[in-house]
Amino acid sequence: MSSRQITDIKAREILDCRGWPTVQADVYVGGQLCGRADVPAGRSTGAHEAHVLTDGDPKRYRGLGVKKAVANVCGPIRDALLGMDAAAQRKIDFTMIELDGTANKSKLGANAILGVSLAVARAGAACAGVPLYQYLNPCSHVLPVPLMNFLNGGKLTANDLEIQEFIIMPVGAENYAHALQMTTEINECLRGLVIDKYGILATNTGDEGGFATPMRGIWEPFEFLQRAVEKAGYKSGFGEDVVYALDCAATHWHDKTTGLYTLDGKQYERDALIDLYRQVAGKYPLGSMEDPLDEEDFDGFAKVVKVLPETQIVGDDLFVTNVDRLRIGVRRGAANAMLFKVNQIGSLSQAFDAAEFAYRNGYGVQVSERSGETEDALISDLVVTLNSGQIKTGMPIRGERTSKHNRLLQIEGELGSVATYAGHAFRRPR
Ligand code: PGA
Ligand code: ZN
Repeated sequence: MSSRQITDIKAREILDCRGWPTVQADVYVGGQLCGRADVPAGRSTGAHEAHVLTDGDPKRYRGLGVKKAVANVCGPIRDALLGMDAAAQRKIDFTMIELDGTANKSKLGANAILGVSLAVARAGAACAGVPLYQYLNPCSHVLPVPLMNFLNGGKLTANDLEIQEFIIMPVGAENYAHALQMTTEINECLRGLVIDKYGILATNTGDEGGFATPMRGIWEPFEFLQRAVEKAGYKSGFGEDVVYALDCAATHWHDKTTGLYTLDGKQYERDALIDLYRQVAGKYPLGSMEDPLDEEDFDGFAKVVKVLPETQIVGDDLFVTNVDRLRIGVRRGAANAMLFKVNQIGSLSQAFDAAEFAYRNGYGVQVSERSGETEDALISDLVVTLNSGQIKTGMPIRGERTSKHNRLLQIEGELGSVATYAGHAFRRPR
């Protein structure tokens, strides 16, 4: 019997940071618990994401229980994987994908498959006796620039701001620890500015930890960010301390019937919206912009790339970490980076395939949290594994977000002198 043979797999229903049920999976090797992982959940989801299997029983959690997915882990998935080598990640992932047999994992549930896929990776690392990032890539060394989500809107809050995330990227930090320090200093200045104008209630936070204020439109949030940066003693600009970024999540304020986008009470045709983005990028250093347009508008995403040559254009709902959608994007020149969310596709191997395809085609990869997270910090290891140079994991407040930032601090310490902070080179780290 190989010393890495899987001897048991268990799962349970746990809660994410919104109090909604999700799957936690355990993988045993040689009778010992060796790998455990939690499955995150989105709220501002793309239409083409893999299927999250919920129970639909209105008597429990208003239908959102995941006991069926848990039963699939403890039943058919366990039966198929017992005795397999915990280091055979790809073989294990594709065994589960074949067992499911559907294109979007709707039979067993992407939440069931992903939980096991991630727990297997942890078990493999434990057997090898090395940290997960090192197990998955012995050349891991790049600490990412965090995309700090200072002001929340869209589906992540209960305010009237359509654009979901107004972000500061501390590209000029010396290292990850310094990036966190800069973030907190700027956030404290922003808090004061928000209180001055809108009162203390406006400092309540959204799902990803940014203030959920009554600000409107696109200009006012940028003015606040800029003033907070200056008040904290930093400079914005390419080559300076910070640049800005957005997740527009525009699918969610786009009307599929009229084709119009409604922002702060005004309606925009696609080209008028792109022109607004051009004006913003002319005034503020916009390092990165995610989902500027509707998730089906590949040609529009190609246009944004041309109009904003200095800004990284990221596809989240557009690509859903799916190599087939990324292939269409590459062919049509849509976006130039992919958001990497493991649960959008539902297995580690397929998410890595998408990242690999992105890199081969000159696209960047931005690893991301979901708005519904647990304290599991696995994506911190993944971003270093991919040497991707950029991570979106919320403001460093509340356990489900600080766990990721604190894990990156640990990794930075473990890597010591070989750690490289991506900094200004976040799109193409060295
Ligand atoms: P989600 O939001 O996790 O709810 O999808 C985050 C995002 O859109 O990037
Ligand atoms: Zn997004």
